[in-house]
Amino acid sequence: MKTIIEPFRIKMTEPIKPSTRAQREEKLKAAHNNVFLVDAEDVTIDLLTDSGTGAMSAQQWAAMMLGDESYAGSISWKKFESTVRDITGFKYIFPTHQGRAAERILAGALLKAGNVIPNNSHFDTTRANIEFVGAIAEDLLTDDGKNPASTAPFKGNMDLGKLEAVIAKHGAENIPFGMITVTNNSGGGQPVSLANMKAVKELLNRHNIPLIIDACRFAENAYFIQQREEGQKNRTLTEIAQEMFSLADASTMSLKKDGLVNIGGWLCCHNEAWADKFRNLLILTEGFPTYGGLAGRDLEAIAVGLREALEPDYQEYRNATIRYIASRLTERGIPIVKPAGGHAVFLDAKAFLPHIPSSEFPGIALVNALYLAGGVRGVELGSVMFGKRNPETGEETPSVMELVRLAFPRRVYTQSHFDYLIEVIEEVWEKRDSLKGARITKQPPFLRHFTAHFSPI
Ligand code: F0G
Repeated sequence: MKTIIEPFRIKMTEPIKPSTRAQREEKLKAAHNNVFLVDAEDVTIDLLTDSGTGAMSAQQWAAMMLGDESYAGSISWKKFESTVRDITGFKYIFPTHQGRAAERILAGALLKAGNVIPNNSHFDTTRANIEFVGAIAEDLLTDDGKNPASTAPFKGNMDLGKLEAVIAKHGAENIPFGMITVTNNSGGGQPVSLANMKAVKELLNRHNIPLIIDACRFAENAYFIQQREEGQKNRTLTEIAQEMFSLADASTMSLKKDGLVNIGGWLCCHNEAWADKFRNLLILTEGFPTYGGLAGRDLEAIAVGLREALEPDYQEYRNATIRYIASRLTERGIPIVKPAGGHAVFLDAKAFLPHIPSSEFPGIALVNALYLAGGVRGVELGSVMFGKRNPETGEETPSVMELVRLAFPRRVYTQSHFDYLIEVIEEVWEKRDSLKGARITKQPPFLRHFTAHFSPI
């Protein structure tokens, strides 16, 4: 077997500014020890997110020049619509400016206070949009999915027993739809099997509850199904994706992930009554239904990007990168969520820094150490992001897991960048015993991870 190479050449470059540890210490201090507040130009390898940070292909840039900016019924819209329809089969297709815009319209159109929405794991914007209208977001992941050490192949699967129990408890009449998120971002980028999706669909069907797919990383999920699920080896990624979508009544999407573009989303469905409601809200807040918050050139780039995301060489290279990093870290005994997910490697900060209690935020200690050691920017998914704080007493309830996500922008970094990343993680691993926790010195009332200030203990 030869090395799996990046299946592209690079025609345009962006500089990475070198920096010294002393400079990074200064920048981190000025950013109140929160890497969200560090300027991007002061980051060497930016793994904060895989959302909207990918590199477009020459074909996508060329397609952008064809962008038809007509307000209504543009040629670019037709290309977008026919591509999305071919992959998803949906009758009604609405472009949105990003995923959370689709979620806001969905929640605004279909939910009322007290409704309950099950999901394998809601992403934080999905949960926030559901809770914003007074409904309740339930995470029903299998127990395997919550265990960082389990190597089960489909740790994004929904627990059918828990779903049955939620329906029995709240009644189908209070559940306007169920959701399934592929891949499961909040739980480590883990895939959902076709078998699980079918079983969820069947169960919901018995209660007349529609199924909605949050499809952000549908192509990565299709790749995992092809590689890991019985009987799927000889099918194309497009065929698998088509089958996934055939199980759904509607879909939300952030095209900033598997659309391989920097901005965009969709909201799709089969039901005409739903479509009428979506269209009305779309016009109110996003734009006319044939552009929905996007420029014609964006629609062109998306139409090309969606096809590229389903190319086998691309998925093979992307997954090989993540497998490579995960196996190098595992060889050194560095604790990560196993198996590695589709868009990120998640370091297990609790196991990495067992001497730092949750109350002193081991994930923040690790994120900051990675930045200081090599200018690597990751994100804490632990007690800062998911922990609960009692606003009256200030008492903290820690998150179950303390993770650090290193999310990989698509087609941006090469293998030498990843070798550098591994060296940085190893350096921090060597001196892990000397790392100290952090204390919050200032925080907003919600979504505190973005803007909180920290001070090292
Ligand atoms: N659903 C999932 C599963 C996501 O991962 C995201 C975004 C969204 C919905 C919302 O989409 O950002 O276009 O509004 N995830 C990004 C991340 C931000 O870093 O994981 P959006």
